[in-house]
Amino acid sequence: MRIGILTGGGDAPGLNAAIRGAARRAFQKGFQVSGIRNGWAGLLGRGDVEDLTPTSVRGILPLGGTILGTSRTNPMKEKDGITRVVALLQANGVDGLVAIGGDDTLSVAAAMSDAGYPVVGVPKTIDNDLAVTEFCIGFDTAVGVVVEALDRLHTTASAHHRVMVVEVMGRDTGWVGMVGGLAGGADLIIIPEFSVSLDQVVEHLHRRRGEGKDFSIIVIAEGVRMPELEPAVAAAAAAEKRDAFGHIQLAKQGVGDALSTRIEDKTGFETRVTVLGHLQRGGSPTPVDRIWATRLGVAATDLLAAGRAGVIPIRQNGEVTIVSLREVIKETRRVPRELYELSGVFG
Ligand code: F6P
Repeated sequence: MRIGILTGGGDAPGLNAAIRGAARRAFQKGFQVSGIRNGWAGLLGRGDVEDLTPTSVRGILPLGGTILGTSRTNPMKEKDGITRVVALLQANGVDGLVAIGGDDTLSVAAAMSDAGYPVVGVPKTIDNDLAVTEFCIGFDTAVGVVVEALDRLHTTASAHHRVMVVEVMGRDTGWVGMVGGLAGGADLIIIPEFSVSLDQVVEHLHRRRGEGKDFSIIVIAEGVRMPELEPAVAAAAAAEKRDAFGHIQLAKQGVGDALSTRIEDKTGFETRVTVLGHLQRGGSPTPVDRIWATRLGVAATDLLAAGRAGVIPIRQNGEVTIVSLREVIKETRRVPRELYELSGVFG
């Protein structure tokens, strides 16, 4: 048997641990392994497929990024895209594919599965927004980066008695902001799931000053839409090109920058902005990301070996559980009110 491994969408720390897990299990079973280069792009045109060997996956556990490369290419936007992708895999003798990715990559995997090709997914996204699963590769590391940044920003904010606005990733959800903000002791966390007005932000800052707290740390998720920050943000959005999955680059909307400007205008408090950007996606994965990426990578190969397809191993109640690919992409998982309200205790 020969399995293929592909990583798609934005990179995330822990992808290499998953590649290693899937490949090493395959070698243990006497299978051959093909690495697909640059996500779905490597299965279009003439294809870009290489043999993976025990040597090629050696030493990659602690590495960020992905040794296979990635892209946001969407075969479903190409004429006969799914048929061509399947034909290329078959032409390379690949009997089943491990597709490691978020909702975009996994939606292509589900379409291939519907077309009858054996695909197993592995959940990856620093946004942590896949349904059902308690774990997505990269989220834990991204949160760690946010926490380290907030720890550092606290000392300089306190020294200068400033307001620090920190913009974090997360696309349309607030998981990175919420969990990172709570763990890093942010005073206010603004996420897409729960709206906050500029007046409420200003009131919050005045209240803190009134209580003798002469600095503040505000975390804002890149996907927040605050009417008072328009039109700057809306203009940036309108000018943006969409990728093949229909996403704009939310970072270019600059909500953090717009918020810090408005805060300074309205309060006169000295305010600075830090946009964490792709720092949240780079570097070495945490132990949690390494272990779970490894477990799920190994499980993915086991599923293909057992003739299971159209499924994805996920973490549920702390265990590896198998669900259908469609289940994890059926909706965007959002931050629940209970978690959000916890942040109100610490403002
Ligand atoms: O989906 C992961 C993510 O990092 C989002 O949080 C962010 O909006 C987006 O990808 C950034 O994408 P790119 O790498 O194309 O700038």
